[in-house]
Amino acid sequence: MKRDSDISHGGGRVAAPARIMTGWKPEHSELWGQHPVCINHALPETGLFSDDVLAGLIESYPRQHYDFLHMGEQGVHKKLWSEGEIGGADGKTVLDAIKQGRLWLNLRRVHEVDSRYADLMGNMFAELEKLVPNFSTYKHNFGILVSSPKAQVYYHADIPGQSLWQVRGEKRVYVYPNYAPFLAEKDMERVILGEIEEDIPYEPWFDDYAQVVTLKPGEMLNWPLNAPHRVENLDCVNVSVTTEHWTDEIRNMYAIRYANGVLRSRLGVTPPKPFTHGPAFWAKAALAAGVKKSGLLKRFRYDREVTWTLDPKASSKMAPLAETYHR
Ligand SMILES: [Fe+2]
Repeated sequence: MKRDSDISHGGGRVAAPARIMTGWKPEHSELWGQHPVCINHALPETGLFSDDVLAGLIESYPRQHYDFLHMGEQGVHKKLWSEGEIGGADGKTVLDAIKQGRLWLNLRRVHEVDSRYADLMGNMFAELEKLVPNFSTYKHNFGILVSSPKAQVYYHADIPGQSLWQVRGEKRVYVYPNYAPFLAEKDMERVILGEIEEDIPYEPWFDDYAQVVTLKPGEMLNWPLNAPHRVENLDCVNVSVTTEHWTDEIRNMYAIRYANGVLRSRLGVTPPKPFTHGPAFWAKAALAAGVKKSGLLKRFRYDREVTWTLDPKASSKMAPLAETYHR
């Protein structure tokens, strides 16, 4: 591929692809954010996702910015997440454990930890903002997911705009409509209020209405705001990138749902469907801002308990922590 720029980092320089969205078609400009779309991209060619590079990144990754999870077998949809920590393991040991276990490592906010990924993310959003009309984004987030063969991510809905970029391995992604019965308004409100993590009720028959994509290296998937999804890795290690973004429209939807959630759960009111215009919207946006600022709802934030540490010798790759802790 033709390369026309370099990303600098420390002593090394990594070639950046001339173009990231290599498979963009004119219709993608209209479909983006409205309908699930699968588009080719050049992230595998950046050199930023090899085992060597990832091992170096993992070794020094700040504890507060990663999640390390073990989950149940595919086909069982009852959520069986347990949360662990890398402990003192080096990066190669962590990658080997992921190859052999049923684990999911989520490096969050990579753009804040390593400038190479900040530069890459900046290029990705700059390209997208040129390709999608009126797409003006902020509060970006760049995460790297390294996950085991046959790992799974349970049915959930994320709050910001989101895309999934496959770099290595293959995964099957199920994307569902972002409205009831797949996503009840009251459940999205509870996710926004932090009363439940991203988990929402799931029924196996929902799959009959899902868009199912087997994502291969060099393909990315974008879906409408809050569209529920779940993921099953094929029988291979997966390296994927998640990007998140906010727009004014997403921020307004967040505010109205926050206010609706407060009205529904604290006052027993059944609010109308969310809308993001007119005086009633601004009244609700003010209510949401006031409640957030007051800190009244802080105690409802979901709390996660870390129960195990990486043990490369164990078949499960986990050893229970003598003292668990919350984060
Ligand atoms: Fe997600």
